[in-house]
Amino acid sequence: MSLSEKITELQAAGAAAANAAANSAELEEVRVQYLGRRAELPNLLRGVAELPPAERGAVGKAANEARKALEALIDQRAGRLAIEELEARLEQDRVDVTLPADPLPAVGRLHLITQTWREIEDIFLGLGYRVAEGPEVESVYYNFDALNHEATHPARAWTDTFYLSDEVLLRTHTSPMQVRSMEQQRPPIYIIVPGRVYRRDSDVTHTPQFHQVEGLAIDENITLADLKGTLQTFARAIFGPERNIRLRPHFFPFTEPSVEVDVSCFNCSGGVTAAGERCSICKGTGWLEILGSGMVDPNVLHFVKDSGYDPELVQGFAFGMGIERIAMLKYGVTDLRLLYDNDIRFLEQFA
Ligand code: PHE
Repeated sequence: MSLSEKITELQAAGAAAANAAANSAELEEVRVQYLGRRAELPNLLRGVAELPPAERGAVGKAANEARKALEALIDQRAGRLAIEELEARLEQDRVDVTLPADPLPAVGRLHLITQTWREIEDIFLGLGYRVAEGPEVESVYYNFDALNHEATHPARAWTDTFYLSDEVLLRTHTSPMQVRSMEQQRPPIYIIVPGRVYRRDSDVTHTPQFHQVEGLAIDENITLADLKGTLQTFARAIFGPERNIRLRPHFFPFTEPSVEVDVSCFNCSGGVTAAGERCSICKGTGWLEILGSGMVDPNVLHFVKDSGYDPELVQGFAFGMGIERIAMLKYGVTDLRLLYDNDIRFLEQFA
């Protein structure tokens, strides 16, 4: 067989092997076999040097062209195989992102008290107040003395309050944080204080532990009108824009004057329902009590005079509301105990 024939045969065999390769790996083996350093076709090229000079040109050229043609064919086939293999992989790994996910396990939701707690915080944060929290185990000093309670005030009795010792108790309200906060910060001060409080009370409308939010605003030139405007804004934010409030004279040891604040009933108009009956929610009065408040008593400011609260220079207001009470009014909950029974049928209603 002449060298030229040998070249043609090798080229054809290489092309057939390349076309038969089923994947890139097989094709690379063919490449090594036919074009590698030890393959026949390149070796033939080296053998050209030994041919008689007259033949060298033609054979050398033919061998070189055959090598190039085979190389081009293998490259082309390699490109095709790479695309096919990529497509197969993509097909196999396909994920339909439009399919619904596996249903998530049922998650819980915030308890109605937590929801209401946060709702109240949001409203006052929007009015520029800061949220502070204080200790539930409190001293008699902060719970009563510094809040201007007389030595004979009935709330001091062990029958009303949980004492841990003569000087330490479970706070009966969030008001101790009025004095604690003023000790920590010079005026002006605008804070609300949510938290748990404790009283020796247990019946249909009382639990030994419940939640309050205290409010305290001290600045120059604060009046009762500021208190009313603030609480009006709060009442409308939480109970709806139709609401009004009214202030009724009251007594607290640590505010003077003191007021109880009512919100207009959302079940009736002036105590009479749309059906013309006496409203059972507000008992026909047209008003619902929501909180206690008043102008901070100068006697309280005297306790924190050294922190900059000179009653001749600054004054302010304070208020305290029960979170349970706000939640019950807002959501029409009729029995306080439902908030603590943890009956899922009750809890699920407040999405
Ligand atoms: N601490 C009072 C209570 O628990 C409420 C209150 C707070 C009243 C602040 C006036 C000012 O009843």
